[in-house]
Amino acid sequence: MIKLNYSKSMVKEEEISSFKEFVKSAHYKLHLKSGLGNDYVGWVDYPIEVSKKELERIKSVSEKIVSDSDALVVIGIGGSYLGARATIEALSHSFYNSLSNDQRKTPEIYYAGNNISGKYLHDLIDVLETKNFSINVISKSGTTTEPAIAFRTLKKLLEKKYGKENAKKRIYATTDSSKGALKNLSDKEGYETFVIPDDVGGRYSVLTPVGLLPIAVSGIDITKLLEGAISAREEYMNENIDENICYQYAAIRNILYNRGKSTEIMVNYEPSLHYLGEWWKQLFGESEGKDNKGIFPAAVDFSTDLHSMGQYIQDGRRNLMETVIKVNDTGLDMSISEDEANLDGLNYLCSKTMNDVNEKAFEGTLLAHYDGNVPNVIIELEKLDVFTFGKLLYFFEKACGISGYLLGVNPFNQPGVEAYKKNMFALLNKPGYEELGEILRKKL
Ligand code: PA5
Repeated sequence: MIKLNYSKSMVKEEEISSFKEFVKSAHYKLHLKSGLGNDYVGWVDYPIEVSKKELERIKSVSEKIVSDSDALVVIGIGGSYLGARATIEALSHSFYNSLSNDQRKTPEIYYAGNNISGKYLHDLIDVLETKNFSINVISKSGTTTEPAIAFRTLKKLLEKKYGKENAKKRIYATTDSSKGALKNLSDKEGYETFVIPDDVGGRYSVLTPVGLLPIAVSGIDITKLLEGAISAREEYMNENIDENICYQYAAIRNILYNRGKSTEIMVNYEPSLHYLGEWWKQLFGESEGKDNKGIFPAAVDFSTDLHSMGQYIQDGRRNLMETVIKVNDTGLDMSISEDEANLDGLNYLCSKTMNDVNEKAFEGTLLAHYDGNVPNVIIELEKLDVFTFGKLLYFFEKACGISGYLLGVNPFNQPGVEAYKKNMFALLNKPGYEELGEILRKKL
């Protein structure tokens, strides 16, 4: 179960209710596909529309990868890998890749193509050289430079290990149904492919084959994950904001933004949720940051970052709001043992567990930041399990779509990301970019 607690958000119930008509209009834009970016709202119904056959194929490919691979390399950037990584890290052992094969029973998972670092790829090759591995290369456009470079390099390593023909049987491509270099290459080489639906953009694609295949390889039950999303789809279908916590969250962040709270910080108290913050940042940043508008999404891991960013949040510029993910039952805990000498003075904690202490860190921080004029919204998860996590992913996707409409932007495009690409291509002398290259070199 997911609960929204806005008692420390500095937003009153009446203010949220006053968004009723505004939210209703955003709701209909999304559901009737009549709003901006309406070609990209396929994610709203995908969890109930995905065929049983497709899910079975994802599961059977994941079983093959588990049976013949010590490692899976997930090649993709932005929406093509963050959702899978967020889910796998949230729901797996904290030291997943370091466990023995007997403890883990599923392949190690590595990520590539999400940066342009030669050192990173070089080091990854060192790790992979001694392992049987497979690749899931994911790119909707099929032309993104970062994953394309990583794929070209790691494909060569696979071919060196297994020969050209056998290497092909270890490559799985997730891409567009008909266009793009990756689609053409996959058709030519005969890779097993999965389709990213035309009407689902990268950052809304975690619950499609983009996320589902790597998640299944890690041993997480993708049917349960989708059940969570389906439950969210039903629960957050209610157009009435008074009865819909997803829409309340969307409205609260817009109310606070209009009061000058232009940065929203996603907070977690569990290290395994670090990548949830990364995924959430991309989802909201790319969806809302446009037309010179938008809340800047940031993320912190507490209590770690209470010893770094905590100072700024408590005492720096007052343009911040926080959204805290609070997990009520983490499943595992540690007691704090008694020590006769008590030289470290910790015996006052020994009737408590680490989760008890973490809870008090949360309460103490909540009150301190609230007193420091930082509104806090709490998203409470009853447990951190597969179902709840699937529900949470959908909760944020829907809140983001609605919030973008409340802000008056198209939450489903990302025109701004083209600017760096054009410049990079021109500076690299990519054919077709010669003129721009000359102009830019003069500016450098
Ligand atoms: O959300 C988005 O659309 C982007 O972040 C993309 O996922 C990212 O740029 C990768 O694109 P592609 O999947 O086409 O390689």
